[in-house]
Amino acid sequence: MILVLDFGGQYSQLIARRVREARVFSEMIPYDTPVEEILAREPEGIILSGGPNSVYEAGAPRVEETLFDLDVPMLGICYGMQLMALSMGGHVEAVQIREYGRSRIEVTEQKLLFAGTPDEQVAWTSHGDAVLAAPDGFQVTARTPSVPIIAFEAPELRGGRFGVQFHPEVRHTEYGMDILKNFLFEACECKPDWTPVNIITDAVEKIQAQVGDAKVICGLSGGVDSATAAMIVHRAIGGNLTCVFVDHGLLRQNEAEQVVETFGKESDVPLIHVDASGRFLDKLANVTDPEAKRKIIGEEFIRTFEVEAGKLAEDAKFLVQGTLYSDVIESGTRDAAKIKSHHNVGGLPEVMDLDLVEPLRNLFKDEVRVVAAELGMPERMVWRQPFPGPGLAIRVIGDVTAERLEILRRADFVLQDEIRSAGLYRELWQSFAVLPAIHSVGVMGDARTYAYPVVIRAVTSDDAMTADWARLPYDLLERISNRIINEVPGVNRVALDITSKPPGTIEWE
Ligand code: XMP
Repeated sequence: MILVLDFGGQYSQLIARRVREARVFSEMIPYDTPVEEILAREPEGIILSGGPNSVYEAGAPRVEETLFDLDVPMLGICYGMQLMALSMGGHVEAVQIREYGRSRIEVTEQKLLFAGTPDEQVAWTSHGDAVLAAPDGFQVTARTPSVPIIAFEAPELRGGRFGVQFHPEVRHTEYGMDILKNFLFEACECKPDWTPVNIITDAVEKIQAQVGDAKVICGLSGGVDSATAAMIVHRAIGGNLTCVFVDHGLLRQNEAEQVVETFGKESDVPLIHVDASGRFLDKLANVTDPEAKRKIIGEEFIRTFEVEAGKLAEDAKFLVQGTLYSDVIESGTRDAAKIKSHHNVGGLPEVMDLDLVEPLRNLFKDEVRVVAAELGMPERMVWRQPFPGPGLAIRVIGDVTAERLEILRRADFVLQDEIRSAGLYRELWQSFAVLPAIHSVGVMGDARTYAYPVVIRAVTSDDAMTADWARLPYDLLERISNRIINEVPGVNRVALDITSKPPGTIEWE
């Protein structure tokens, strides 16, 4: 396992991802994690990330000096390299490096880190202080025309010490992956055994140890995360797991059937399907405020789940959640500015006094998809775009009625159908339709119409924190528009949302 100490660099998370791509498990932790705790994790190597600070700045992040005494291989990247240089007796100056972005570096010493890579290569260098003298026992291994020390290393020192003043984790760095692999496999002697099969086997063992013979429940949303979590737990404890699928009536066309089918036909996971749509619609009647809608749905969800869980397994001691690694990383900052009250099963534990089982806690979304495929889940489920907990209620702007939900559902179905046929479904982070609470005038078959517009929203994104509106081909937009107006009664106009996030959010409410 490789620990990435995060000094606040914009690529810190990417480092952990690249290490995992090399099939070595990696976790990102705050730079000020006590050395004792770091040791207790028994890392095979430590990577110190970049960061926005200068090592000489007041309040710049520092680590306990004893960190560098550990007999563990370490790779410092940018800020991490300077910190290593400074702490180990080198000389760092707060002169800004003039070269940054794409740079040509010259490898002057083929020792361990650059082994097997060419003497001249392109690397993505970064702003920062300059290391003017490497610590004793270190050898300078690469330079650029204006930066004499762009990389150094001491492979024999305490398991190995390495530093680079560029970002091996970004794709623009031509041999970045080779450099990382040299660190992982040559310096740290890691084995590339972080594979989907091993992830599943590991998770299964951990769950068995955690849960024993206790009863476990899992709320299914229809998305890939909760479904994958459920499948893994089922593999671990079989019949002691019961899944509850609360259908709040705010799902897309055929979605509820698909969930039931996936679980009913393709696996023998016991599933309780609760049709609570009436209950939710009653509570939502005449509610137009987005936050009020979210709160009502969150609350109703918990109540319904509680009732069902109470009925079937009074002695359930654990609750399965599909928490992902990105949720764990972001949880520190996510609520800093509350833009929307996100509803998922997160509110349940306090209310229900259940311990959590979170088999996906260490995984990124793309890793979950690989695991889901390995578990034999149908492709439609594996590649499902994210869908918000409150469902279509936050896409039907204003009053949520059965009639308006049906209009949106039909328009959304056409949109999905065309996006899939165009082969764009996987590329898009999300694509969906929104039903505003306005009417506009149109003309159809010589007659005046006065009906709803439908807004098409399609975005690309890596993590939903930021998103760009997708440039859908005109002919596809034309087909979508024609079909929605022809096939969905109550709609006479189609508009396209061309707002990125920020300043927009992905959903409309
Ligand atoms: P926004 O609209 O805030 O959405 O840009 C970011 C991502 O989160 C999804 N989303 C939710 N997911 N419960 C969820 O589980 C929610 O209440 C919720 N609200 C938004 C949204 O679809 C997008 O992927």
